[in-house]
Amino acid sequence: MIPCQFYCFSGIVITLYILVLHTFASPTVHLCRHDQRDALLEFIHEFPKADMKSSSNDDYDMSSWNKSSDCCSWWGITCDAESGQVISLELINVALNNSLKSNSGLFKLPYLQTLILSNCNLYGEIPSSFGNLSHLIQLHISVNKLVGQVPVSIGILTQLRDLTLYGNKLSGKFSVLFANSTQLFTLDLSYNYFEPEPLPDMSRFHSLKIFEVSGNSFFGSFPTYLFTIPSLEWVNLGENNFTGPIDFGNVSLFSRLQFLYLADNKFDGRIPESISKFLTLKELDLHNNSFSGPFPTTLFTMPSLQWADLARNQFEGTIDFGNILSSSNLGVLDLSDNKFDGQIPESISKFLKLAELDLSNNKLEGKVPGCLLRLESLKLSHNSFSSFGKSSQVMMDQAQMRELRLDSNSFHGPFPHWICKLGLLDFLDLSNNSFNGSVPPCVRSLAVSLRVLNLRNNNFSGIFPDVFVNASRLMELDVSRNRLEGKLPKSLINCTNMELLNVEGNKFKDTFPSWLGSLQLQILILRSNQFYGPLIFTEFQTLKVIDVSHNDFSGTLPTFYFSNWLEMIQRNTLSPDDDPYMGSNLVYFPRGFGSYTSSMEIVHKGVETEFEKIREDYTSIDFSSNMFEGKIPESTGLLKGLRYLNLSNNAFTSNIPQSLAYLTNLESLDVSKNHLSGQIPPDLGELFSLSTMNFAHNNLQGPIPQGTQFHRQNCSSFMDNPKLSNLEDLCGKPHDSDDTPQEPEEVLEPEEPVINWIAAAIAYGPGVFCGLVIGHIFVSHKHEWFMEKFGRKKSRAVIISVR
Ligand SMILES: *[C@@H]1O[C@H](CO)[C@@H](O)[C@H](O)[C@H]1NC(C)=O
Ligand SMILES: *[C@@H]1O[C@H](CO)[C@@H](O)[C@H](O)[C@H]1NC(C)=O
Ligand SMILES: *[C@@H]1O[C@H](CO)[C@@H](O)[C@H](O)[C@H]1NC(C)=O
Ligand SMILES: *[C@@H]1O[C@H](CO)[C@@H](O)[C@H](O)[C@H]1NC(C)=O
Ligand SMILES: *[C@@H]1O[C@H](CO)[C@@H](O)[C@H](O)[C@H]1NC(C)=O
Ligand SMILES: *[C@@H]1O[C@H](CO)[C@@H](O)[C@H](O)[C@H]1NC(C)=O
Ligand SMILES: *[C@@H]1O[C@H](CO)[C@@H](O)[C@H](O)[C@H]1NC(C)=O
Ligand SMILES: *[C@@H]1O[C@H](CO)[C@@H](O)[C@H](O)[C@H]1NC(C)=O
Ligand SMILES: *[C@@H]1O[C@H](CO)[C@@H](O)[C@H](O)[C@H]1NC(C)=O
Ligand SMILES: *[C@@H]1O[C@H](CO)[C@@H](O)[C@H](O)[C@H]1NC(C)=O
Ligand SMILES: *[C@@H]1O[C@H](CO)[C@@H](O)[C@H](O)[C@H]1NC(C)=O
Ligand SMILES: *[C@@H]1O[C@H](CO)[C@@H](O)[C@H](O)[C@H]1NC(C)=O
Repeated sequence: MIPCQFYCFSGIVITLYILVLHTFASPTVHLCRHDQRDALLEFIHEFPKADMKSSSNDDYDMSSWNKSSDCCSWWGITCDAESGQVISLELINVALNNSLKSNSGLFKLPYLQTLILSNCNLYGEIPSSFGNLSHLIQLHISVNKLVGQVPVSIGILTQLRDLTLYGNKLSGKFSVLFANSTQLFTLDLSYNYFEPEPLPDMSRFHSLKIFEVSGNSFFGSFPTYLFTIPSLEWVNLGENNFTGPIDFGNVSLFSRLQFLYLADNKFDGRIPESISKFLTLKELDLHNNSFSGPFPTTLFTMPSLQWADLARNQFEGTIDFGNILSSSNLGVLDLSDNKFDGQIPESISKFLKLAELDLSNNKLEGKVPGCLLRLESLKLSHNSFSSFGKSSQVMMDQAQMRELRLDSNSFHGPFPHWICKLGLLDFLDLSNNSFNGSVPPCVRSLAVSLRVLNLRNNNFSGIFPDVFVNASRLMELDVSRNRLEGKLPKSLINCTNMELLNVEGNKFKDTFPSWLGSLQLQILILRSNQFYGPLIFTEFQTLKVIDVSHNDFSGTLPTFYFSNWLEMIQRNTLSPDDDPYMGSNLVYFPRGFGSYTSSMEIVHKGVETEFEKIREDYTSIDFSSNMFEGKIPESTGLLKGLRYLNLSNNAFTSNIPQSLAYLTNLESLDVSKNHLSGQIPPDLGELFSLSTMNFAHNNLQGPIPQGTQFHRQNCSSFMDNPKLSNLEDLCGKPHDSDDTPQEPEEVLEPEEPVINWIAAAIAYGPGVFCGLVIGHIFVSHKHEWFMEKFGRKKSRAVIISVR
């Protein structure tokens, strides 16, 4: 009786509303059925931990989900205009923060045709009750934290056309779950944990348009049959374990394939000629496979191709574009990390729409065609190019260039003046070439737009001109390893966004630039110059890495010297992110600019390591090889986050401060070659992170602290401290000044594998660790750029965030 009454009642309500509609001709009628409204409220109340305000959607308003308003007008809800049934529920970027219950109110909405719960922080398993939503046409539960098997019931939803589950931790056997889902238009299972297996024959999926299984562990040979499906538009098999050659079979003239991504697999062999029959292909991504053979000229006869990424393969020989059609649409070409040699053919000028070219890491040489200066991004790093072609100067007025990387080539001679006319340039890297002469004043206009300027390891000389008056965007300036002299340019004070300044290895002769303290500098490297005078710190609250070593700084450091260094005081170890899909939580410097691999040398744990990137949580102080004197300031102990401290080769006196024992993150400590006296603070023995240390060449006395870290050190870390005792374990013989008799048996064999701290440093240095994410950052930067350029992200996995 009760349900009957209920339905009758809602029937009346609907009738009334239809009357209202007729009377006022209002399109926003109240159609909401109470059972549907209650089901929706029941559903949303299953998420008590939901963070309804966290959405990044502007139009998002969960407050509309209240009883006093019509549920058909609630945010994310669509009702059937006639029946009032809820047919669509779309919640995107709403942090629901709970699992989906098997008896959820959701399953009381049986007429749902569209259900989108993307990036909602859902966890737990997908309940099999989804099988009850038999009208479902579109089901998106992407970018959540769902685990476990995908229920079989989803595979048998016969109306379903679009199933998108990317970015979870879902498992199951593809060949079983979706064996009968042949009616699907879209199947996106990317970035999950589906069972490793070869892809089954899918030629029965007659309507398939979008097929994505990237970021799983599928293996086996190339799924040729897939390409017999005439409706296919988008295929992504990237980041799996596929092997062998690719073969498209008999490509139909009517193929609609537009996007083909095979990156990060182990495909090999040549690119088949038949690829040119995909007349509609727009994007081809083959990067990071083992494709080989000569330059695939065929590809460049395809008029529709806009994006071609062949990076990180084994292609070789000269670049030959064949007969380029004047209608070519090629916008992005990445041939980096192959074995191409010879010159860039002049015919490249016929790609009128080319905007981004990456030829880095090949064996190319000769002149760079001047026409390439009209591109937005040109990367030629790590080749043997020596000069630019004559037409360079022609069309500088229309220059669009934002990124120019010429590092590690054979460029020489003066700074190319035409670069100063690239008024939109963000990023300029000329490092590791043989440019010489002075840095021209015209860099002043260039610096207005620049975010990164890298002139490292060239032969620039003379005074660095005051070119940074309007350089407020500049984040990184690296002029290290040149022959620059004089004072630092005063206009650096206007670089209010500067995070990194590296002038290492020049002949700058100046006092300490304490006037830069008001900037938000994170890394300051003055190493190996002729800086002199006291080191006066007033502000510099964001510094994480400072290296002033090998200069002529002098004077004492007052007790409270380090009290102001907030960043190093507050910084603690970051916890690693447990979500492999989203990548590591360690953000790599610099935060602002995705793709700069600034190299710099920092003496890490006693070894010069070429760093590709510095870990975000890396903090270090290097004051070594100057003329500092007096006591090591007690406030050093405040730098709680400090990992590396080098005060060696100065004239520090008195005791080592006890407070150093508070540096619980310290990995390396070097106070050697000073005039330190007294005992090594025993509490340093408790610093378990401290793996390398050096106290040699001082006047220290007494026993070395207990603790495994100390006892793992090599004897040389303590040598030349005549009054230091208890060194037998490390040095294997009684100390000269030690009068107590020693047993000769205690002498260690000279071959005894004492852990050598230099070797340990090489093994544990972050250099190795840091390399891992660079590829990722690089790729995402490229995608961002592509998004700007073509208004769409290449990877669908990120569309949600721009919706
Ligand atoms: C919900 O999850 C988001 C994302 O993880 C988190 O930021 C937020 O604090 C969570 N809210 C609650 C109430 O747990
Ligand atoms: C209920 O939703 C309506 C709009 O749909 C809104 O105007 C009203 O403020 C909401 N009420 C509450 C209590 O949030
Ligand atoms: C919903 O699905 C569950 C599990 O598949 C099933 O046990 C239940 O009978 C279904 N309910 C309805 C109303 O169909
Ligand atoms: C697919 O259909 C076949 C034949 O009707 C049936 O035997 C099989 O169980 C179905 N598989 C699934 C997963 O539903
Ligand atoms: C690829 O296969 C290798 C060995 O079979 C395995 O160790 C690796 O995890 C697989 N990689 C992926 C992405 O599935
Ligand atoms: C391609 O077509 C040829 C002739 O039309 C045929 O012999 C061959 O079997 C076809 N190959 C495939 C993979 O279908
Ligand atoms: C290249 O692909 C392999 C899997 O084939 C993967 O392990 C590796 O991380 C990829 N390299 C890069 C730089 O993406
Ligand atoms: C600098 O360039 C040379 C060749 O020009 C190359 O061998 C070397 O590896 C490069 N150095 C760096 C740090 O890239
Ligand atoms: C730099 O210039 C000096 C003097 O002209 C020259 O001796 C030296 O070889 C040059 N170095 C490089 C790397 O070109
Ligand atoms: C720059 O180097 C070239 C040789 O590559 C040399 O002839 C020239 O004198 C150098 N210029 C300066 C200013 O050192
Ligand atoms: C710096 O910017 C100011 C104001 O925008 C402008 O007047 C001045 O000409 C610029 N100076 C240089 C050297 O670009
Ligand atoms: C900093 O920029 C202002 C204009 O924005 C300019 O007047 C001033 O001279 C600049 N400072 C230096 C040291 O160049």
